[in-house]
Amino acid sequence: MAVGERDLDAALDAVLGSGSELAPAAAALSAAYRSGRRPGEVLDDPTAARAYAAVRMPATFAAVRAALRAAGPGLRPATVLDIGGGTGAAVWAAAATLPSLRSAHVLDGSAPALALGRRIAAGAPDPVLAGATWTRARWPVDLPGADLATLAYFAGELPPEQQVAVVVAAAERAGAVAVVEPGTPAGFADLLRARDTLVGTGFRIVAPCPHDLDCPWATGSDWCHFPVRLPRSARHRQVKGARLGWEDEKFSYVVAVRDGADRPEGRPEGRPEGRIVRHPVQRKGMVELTVCAARPGIERVIVSKRSGADYRAARDAGWGDAWPPHP
Ligand SMILES: C[S@@+](CC[C@H](N)C(=O)[O-])C[C@H]1O[C@@H](n2cnc3c(N)ncnc32)[C@H](O)[C@@H]1O
Repeated sequence: MAVGERDLDAALDAVLGSGSELAPAAAALSAAYRSGRRPGEVLDDPTAARAYAAVRMPATFAAVRAALRAAGPGLRPATVLDIGGGTGAAVWAAAATLPSLRSAHVLDGSAPALALGRRIAAGAPDPVLAGATWTRARWPVDLPGADLATLAYFAGELPPEQQVAVVVAAAERAGAVAVVEPGTPAGFADLLRARDTLVGTGFRIVAPCPHDLDCPWATGSDWCHFPVRLPRSARHRQVKGARLGWEDEKFSYVVAVRDGADRPEGRPEGRPEGRIVRHPVQRKGMVELTVCAARPGIERVIVSKRSGADYRAARDAGWGDAWPPHP
C-alpha cells in the first residue's frame, strides 16, 4: 500500500507531538515567505525546520503528489533524487505515487531540515522512505544520477541564473524531472523558467502541458496553477492558528522526460491532449471547461448534455484533470 497523508501525519505526530511550541516559529516562517526573504536561510534552524514540517510539509507533499499523479503511470523511476528536498515532502510524494520506486536520496543545504526529515521518514510504513539517504549539499554541487529528479519549492529559492543551472544539471543526471513551485505569479515565473530550460535541453513535457511549444500564459496577467485540497490535522491547525479543517494549496508544476526526445512528433506517454486549467463551471444542461489545448491556446469548451459520456465526464472533471478524458 502506498503511503498517504495519514501516514505522513502519523510520522509527523511521532516526531513533533502536538507542536504547540511551534506557533511563533511558524508565524516567523510565513512572515519570511511573505517578505520574499529566502526561506532556505531560515530553515537552517531546528525550530524553523520543525515549524516547516508542521505547517508546510503536508501541503508540499500534497502538491508534489498531485503533480506526479498527473504524469500518469508512464513515469516508472526506480530511483529519485530530491534536490533542495528539505524535510523530504517530495520523496514522500514519490513513494505515494510511484510503485516502481526502490530508493530515494534527499539533498539539501540545511542540516536541521535533513535530520528532521530523516526522523520523520523513519516512521514511514515504507522501506524506501525509511531507508532513504539524506545528504547535506548546498547547490551548486555535482549531482548524483537518478531516474527522477524532483525540485519542489526549491528553484525559486535561487537567483534566476542558478535556477536554470540546477534544472540543466538535473536534466543531465536524470531521465525525468519534476519541478513544483508555489502557484503565485512569482512561482509561475520561476516554473516557466524551469519549463523553458527543460524543453531547451530536449526534454518533453508530460504534465501539465499538452505540448512543448510556448506557454500561452507566458505573457499576460494570468498564470498557470492548480489547487489541491488537503486536510489539516489538529497539530497543523494549532501551529498555524487556523480553524478550518482543510486548506487549498495552489501550485505550478512541470513534469518532463528525456524519453521520446528523438520522436518530437509523437506524444510522450502520459501527455494529455488538453488540460483543464480552471474550475469547470456547471450550467443547466452543460459544463463549461477552460482547457489548455495542444494547438496551443486556452480554449473555452462547452460540453452539453447531448454529448453523453463526455458530458458525464465533464460533470465529474476538476481543475487539473486531462481533457478529453479518453485520448
Ligand atoms: C521551501 S523549502 C522546500 C523543501 C521541500 N522540497 C518541500 O517541498 O517541502 C526550500 C529548501 O531549499 C533548501 N535550499 C535553499 N537554498 C539551497 C541551496 N543553495 N542548496 C541546497 N538547498 C537549498 C532549504 O534548506 C530548504 O530546505
